[in-house]
Amino acid sequence: MDILHPLLPLWFEIIVLFFVCWILFVVVVLRIVRHWWKFPAPAFFGALFSAPHRKHIQPPSMIIDGLGLKSGMKVVELGCGPGTYTLDVAKAVLPDGVVYAVDIQEGMLNQLRKKMERQGIANITPVLADAKGDIPLEDGIADAAYAVTVIGEISDPVSALKQVCRLLKVGGLYAQSELVIDPDFPLRRTTMRWAQEAGLTFRKGLGGALRYVLVFEKKAA
Ligand SMILES: C[S@@+](CC[C@H](N)C(=O)[O-])C[C@H]1O[C@@H](n2cnc3c(N)ncnc32)[C@H](O)[C@@H]1O
Repeated sequence: MDILHPLLPLWFEIIVLFFVCWILFVVVVLRIVRHWWKFPAPAFFGALFSAPHRKHIQPPSMIIDGLGLKSGMKVVELGCGPGTYTLDVAKAVLPDGVVYAVDIQEGMLNQLRKKMERQGIANITPVLADAKGDIPLEDGIADAAYAVTVIGEISDPVSALKQVCRLLKVGGLYAQSELVIDPDFPLRRTTMRWAQEAGLTFRKGLGGALRYVLVFEKKAA
């Protein structure tokens, strides 16, 4: 069977094939490198993370609806980066809700601060901290928590999820969103294992194998 469209010129097909192979090669090489060498995605990638088309693939509604966010809720975000999702979540909990946006890099938090200023959003508290260490927020402060393409990037993901567990109220939900093109993409079953080891209980899953959001609950001890 001829799978190539007869009207497309050969040079175009070769370029497309080359491009696809190059992307696959880069993703595979990056995955191998990242398996052994973990470090935070540099702050100069901030604009890439905030690219508008990204929200067609990973829409903020997956987090907002998955967590059932409502006005007045207190939410913790791990690895907020330049605030790609932070502002949407902050708007969802207005007027009295607040988002504690945790990131390990001041450069990322500065990009978030600029977006807050431009959009006139004030209910976000940027927190400079290592998510796998002691985040300077009190136990049980949050009604909900989430992380988007972050946990696989952290050298000790279970410690980071134990922090989520500590910060959540009993009955609070945590959503983890992942996308396959991220070189640190964890499989669904890996995310399930990490969360269970951290003491979180699986509630529901949205999306498929290549793009998913898993929602967990903090149950009473
Ligand atoms: C791939 S970016 C994703 C940013 C944002 N969540 C998004 O989807 O656009 C990962 C972010 O996690 C942050 N990060 C990595 N390791 C961290 C850690 N141990 N503690 C807190 N933040 C961390 C990085 O600085 C970076 O901003």
